[in-house]
Amino acid sequence: MKQFDSSALLSPRASTADEGAIIRMSQKTRDLRALGHDIVSLTIGEPDFDTPLNIRDAAKDALDNGFTHYSPVAGIPELREAIAQKLRTENGLNYQSANVVLANGTKQAISNAVLAIIGPGDEAVIPAPFWVSYEGSVKFAQGKAVIVPSDVSENYKPPVARIAAAITPATKLLFINSPSNPTGAVWTRAELEQIAELVRAHPKLMVLSDEIYEYILFDGEMVSFGSLPGMLERTITLNGFSKGFAMTGWRLGYAAAPLPVAQAMARMQSIISAGANQFVQRAALAALHGPRDGVESMRLAYSARRDLVLKGLRAIAGVQIAPIPATFYAFPDVSAFLGRKAGNHVIETTDQLCDWLLESHGVSLVPGTAFGAPHSIRLSFAASEADIKKALLRLEQGLLSLK
Ligand SMILES: Cc1ncc(COP(=O)(O)O)c(C=O)c1O
Repeated sequence: MKQFDSSALLSPRASTADEGAIIRMSQKTRDLRALGHDIVSLTIGEPDFDTPLNIRDAAKDALDNGFTHYSPVAGIPELREAIAQKLRTENGLNYQSANVVLANGTKQAISNAVLAIIGPGDEAVIPAPFWVSYEGSVKFAQGKAVIVPSDVSENYKPPVARIAAAITPATKLLFINSPSNPTGAVWTRAELEQIAELVRAHPKLMVLSDEIYEYILFDGEMVSFGSLPGMLERTITLNGFSKGFAMTGWRLGYAAAPLPVAQAMARMQSIISAGANQFVQRAALAALHGPRDGVESMRLAYSARRDLVLKGLRAIAGVQIAPIPATFYAFPDVSAFLGRKAGNHVIETTDQLCDWLLESHGVSLVPGTAFGAPHSIRLSFAASEADIKKALLRLEQGLLSLK
């Protein structure tokens, strides 16, 4: 009798879901370390700091006070109100609590938003370099991701005319991620105003504005897209607690949107997981209402590391690097090193380059192919200064040894 093959049952959706280069590089790093290799890893995009104490204490109190039950699907009313108030006062976004929907991480909030808007045949425009999950979530919703490239000479922000050229009658969503993962770029008010002009010219288009790095800003101004004239109704604002408050493992994010979209997102949330974790929502209230000195001291630490990374990368002849006004990522263009030889072996792509740097020089980075930008590589400087210095040295030695 023929053996049962469960792989034949997998849905088309399951086959579009790719584990991605970041997970692959992290696994390879773990495997090599297990074999005793000395590897410095700048792959993972998460704060290396612990969550501030007042937030941890609030979670412990919540557990001890019985907040261990299901939460309302869209989130606890106190937190939805606190988030609406934060968005009004800090971001100039005139949302009410009914516009806010909590999720188990911003990643899930993005999926809720995309599933609420995109179906088969619909298109979403994604400026590249982009955060990996955007393309994945659009494919997961069986839509088409239309990628608009940009390069280091443009500070990794495609000009608005290039974005406009990608819009078709099937386009329903435009992604904006400012500050950006993987580039650290920040869109200026003038640039966002040009995007708003474009949105006005396309009455069926909504913007998904991912603002999760807003608190890790060193230079310039944080502008929330929905705060521009007439844009609140045309925007889904995404944010979460992972990055600014160092709460990646807690899994809490949110979306704010016009009421019909917010209600649809809550329905997605209800089907996939029910309301977000109840005691984590209590801790998030403490994050929003409590002192922000922890957030500020992390920002200052990232800022000093940013200077270190920029100095190190600028010193490597052939590496091109744009300014990094925000986040904890650097995204140097290394195209000058592609097509060169390591021994007898030609390195053609940044995937091959990152594999070789890991195996031969003990430094783990992420190839830009993961972010729709094949000529660059991503370094996360959410790591100690000692590790950053070691990684820069290994990168320099590796790159300069290529012939
Ligand atoms: C741009 C961007 N948006 C969203 C997320 C998801 O964050 P969360 O941990 O809240 O799911 C990340 C995480 O890396 C990110 O870089």
